[in-house]
This record gives sequence, C-alpha cells and structure tokens, in this order.
Amino acid sequence: MSSTPIIRLENVSKTYDSGVVQAVRNISLEIPKGEICSVMGPSGCGKSTLLNMIGALDRPTSGRILVKGRPLETIPPSRYRNRTVGFIFQLHHLLPSITLEENVALPLVARRNISRRQRLVMARRLLSEVGIANRASFYPVQVSGGERQRAAVARALVSQPEILLADEPTGGVDSRTAGLVMEAILRRCVSQGMTALIVTHNPEIAYQARRVIFMRDGRLIQDGKAVNCQASMV
Ligand SMILES: Nc1ncnc2c1ncn2[C@@H]1O[C@H](COP(=O)(O)OP(=O)(O)O)[C@@H](O)[C@H]1O
Ligand SMILES: [Mg+2]
Repeated sequence: MSSTPIIRLENVSKTYDSGVVQAVRNISLEIPKGEICSVMGPSGCGKSTLLNMIGALDRPTSGRILVKGRPLETIPPSRYRNRTVGFIFQLHHLLPSITLEENVALPLVARRNISRRQRLVMARRLLSEVGIANRASFYPVQVSGGERQRAAVARALVSQPEILLADEPTGGVDSRTAGLVMEAILRRCVSQGMTALIVTHNPEIAYQARRVIFMRDGRLIQDGKAVNCQASMV
C-alpha cells in the first residue's frame, strides 16, 4: 500500500477581496486513496471554496495542494480535469440541447480511442447504474430535477475519475433520490477504489461516509470517523 495520500493540503488558505473575506483558513489535510469523506458545516464556511481548490477551479492564496504527491499547479489542467477528477455541482450543469445520454458521454469525447457508439454504450450503462436508463434519450428539460441530478452523477462518473468532488450533489432532490444518488456514488467508490469528497448538509448522507470533516468560519474544526459507524455503508 502506498503511503502517499492521493490528496494532501498543506496550510491552505483562500482569501477574497484582498484579504477581507477569509474563505478558507490554514487547512491541512490528508486523504488516502479510496477514502470517502463527507464535508459538513454551515453555509458560507468555505466548503465550496475548499472543493474548488482541490478541483483546480480555484487557487489557494497561500499553502499548497498535492495530488498523488505532486503540487497541483504542476499538473496540466486539462488532463487533471478530464481524467483525474470528476465534479458534481449542486446545479446539474447539463447541456439543454442534447439528450441525457449525450450529456453523460460528453467527458469521453476528448478520448480519441473511444468511438461515439462506445461512448453512448458507456453512458447508458452509467444511466442504468443511477436508475434512469429509461430516460437516456430525453432532454434535460423533459425529466425531473432528481433525474437531472442523477444524470449529472452519471456524467461525473463515466470517465472513471480517481477523485470525485461532489458539492451538495443531493441538494435539490427528495430524500429517496438523494439515497439513490449516494448509493451510486458509494458503490463506485468501493468497486473502483475511487476517492470522494462529498459536501452535504444532510447528516444521513454525511454519515454514510467513514470520515466526516466539519468546517466553521473557514477552519477545519473536526476531522474524524462518523460516530455511528454501524450505519456506515462503507
Ligand atoms: N468569488 C468570491 N468572491 C468573494 N467572496 C467569496 C467568493 N466565493 C466565496 N466567497 C465567500 O467565501 C466564504 C466561503 O464561501 P463558500 O466556500 O461558498 O462557502 P460554503 O460552500 O460553505 O457555503 C463566504 O463568506 C463567501 O461569501
Ligand atoms: Mg457551497
């Protein structure tokens, strides 16, 4: 087993507006490969900022982030975003003019060795994993919010990322759908050794992860295993 964590944060801080807003304050953290980690904390405490920095959508003001031992700023951004990480946002960000299966297949377009036909086969497999195979040829506007969110999960997983970053992935959906979304994510993590960071307000969702990180005012205030480990699915 490798001792290098897949994600390592060293004294990471992020300020906005020339230091007036301290979104993330001096966070150090190690996440081993394959770990599933929930991030909780009140609105505005810096959860999205933290995730965006790990996803290279934003840069720390100070400190550094290493992925597989390598400083994030030295990893080519396109490769990192296309191959290493998968992102699920609170809003689904599906393209309205193409079907769900085409949306899900989109991250694979850059891979020249996969034909369009193969891409769609892979997309349909993912849609069936998240329980909406029957919506494959529908457009985003033709399906429910929960189905759109499940399609967004399928799209984030189709390229088999090593790291999944999910920012309130079950935010706008009912609890049954939230359960299905999480199940799909956790199943993937376990079967493929995928590492996941999942921001959520929902304790039921959070405690399905073995590790729960709590933030407040930009700081990491608690980092530990879920108290009710019996309820843990992983
Ligand atoms: N682009 C930005 N410009 C200025 N302030 C920002 C920006 N993004 C986030 N913030 C501020 O940083 C803090 C943390 O925000 P965020 O990471 O979105 O929190 P959370 O996701 O936990 O709700 C908040 O005070 C927010 O207003
Ligand atoms: Mg947020």
